[in-house]
Amino acid sequence: MTGPPLDLRPSAAAQTPLDNPFSLGVASGDPSPDGFVLWTRLAQLPLDDDGLGGMGQGVRRVEWQVATDARFRRVVRSGVSRTGPEQGHSIHLEPSGLEPDRDHFYRFRLDRHLSPVGRTRTAPRSTSVPSALSVAFASCAQWEHGWFTAYRRMAEDEPDLVLHLGDYLYEYDPGFEPARSGNVRSHEGPETVTLADYRRRHAQYKTDPDLQLLHATAPWVAVFDDHELTDNWAADRPGPSTAPGRFDDRRTAALRAYWENMPLRRSAYPQGPELKAHRRFGWGRLATFHMLDTRQYRDQQACGDGMGTCEETWEPTRSILGEEQEAWIADGLRTSTATWDVLGQQVPMGRLELSPLEIDRLSMDSWDGYPACRDRVLASMREATNPVVLTGDVHDAFATEVWADHEDPDSVAAPELICTSITSNGDGEDSPDGSYRWGRTNPQVQFWNDLRGYVALRFTAEELRADYRSLPYVRVPGAPAFTRASFAVEAGSPRLHQVG
Ligand SMILES: [Fe+2]
Repeated sequence: MTGPPLDLRPSAAAQTPLDNPFSLGVASGDPSPDGFVLWTRLAQLPLDDDGLGGMGQGVRRVEWQVATDARFRRVVRSGVSRTGPEQGHSIHLEPSGLEPDRDHFYRFRLDRHLSPVGRTRTAPRSTSVPSALSVAFASCAQWEHGWFTAYRRMAEDEPDLVLHLGDYLYEYDPGFEPARSGNVRSHEGPETVTLADYRRRHAQYKTDPDLQLLHATAPWVAVFDDHELTDNWAADRPGPSTAPGRFDDRRTAALRAYWENMPLRRSAYPQGPELKAHRRFGWGRLATFHMLDTRQYRDQQACGDGMGTCEETWEPTRSILGEEQEAWIADGLRTSTATWDVLGQQVPMGRLELSPLEIDRLSMDSWDGYPACRDRVLASMREATNPVVLTGDVHDAFATEVWADHEDPDSVAAPELICTSITSNGDGEDSPDGSYRWGRTNPQVQFWNDLRGYVALRFTAEELRADYRSLPYVRVPGAPAFTRASFAVEAGSPRLHQVG
């Protein structure tokens, strides 16, 4: 006798009362030459509306191991860690004293349950000169808009490192934001406002097997943008589409849940509504990564957060980073001795006209709304050897350059590589000639594409190569990824060259 076919969708599995406490997978992040962060979060019922994942008020002892081989024959660290409702049943370990520049494997155990095995990597020693580094970066994964196949394709590339540039999840009510190609699945619970809401939303996203695979494949360095809290928020104010309410409480809840659910260091644990996310890490002398936070310390968007500049835009004191972070990035760029200085950040830094015909259709939510601050950062970039800007947010891929003067093509300050979304907007359209359809108003843009996907980078001492990886669809699972265009930047010159 045969029953109805088994529903294997992750949303179906998540609703089945399983007793596996590792239903949200494992993750690692923030690698250093002697360690990294290891993460898991216990949840037997990930979608429970109290946000506690069916783990209740109990405190549990979780055993863990780190080995240099995938079969755990050479265990180099092990221990026991406690977690409970105060931490949202998450574990954040920071094993140290490990060998630099090598793969490590890790797993957790609770009673008879063993977690999946994760692979991670220590960074090279700061004085070493690694021959190459592979990095994949992505942003914007609206659960409802498509399947996270692009995360799986990233994992299959086995990069050394994953950068996530924000919009890891979306706060919206179920069905609030329909994708162009239609929504394929539904958010659980209402728009996220409370700690329980955000914890549950994170848990729902983490049930996705493609996302779990990417977390278990490489260390991540993640920064948040707006949707981890609410659309277009700025410092202590919600965006224009959100009722003010008790924004401080909401920000506290969202950032606490973000910390609990990401492989972040314990020192990053939020202080009230503040989570220190800007940070720096190195990959030997080959690359230094400066991760920026363009949300928590920004001045309010100018001109009512509209499209287009006004007098307010040009105020010299306006900042998207805040004074302290501006000083921090200036200092980091001035003192860096790396071949490549990579700025991992959320919103487009270079000028980006949003209309093919009109000038001054600029987003006041991006660096175009903070031109004085951009000028200051570009001045600091001139002190770095090879600055590179990596960006998310806009749900389209761009290969572009940041020009110090938008009327002077010789004023290139840095290449800017903008990834498309993992799913946000749903299925995209391929641009037949790979050119930017609004190139007339954007001479700095060399490539634009509206398909979903990610960007795969390879750094060497001579060159940075960027492959723009595209997926023909996300409305059904299993899409292949293909390289839609490739660009190179040669060490010594900030210009982008298309090479494929
Ligand atoms: Fe987004």
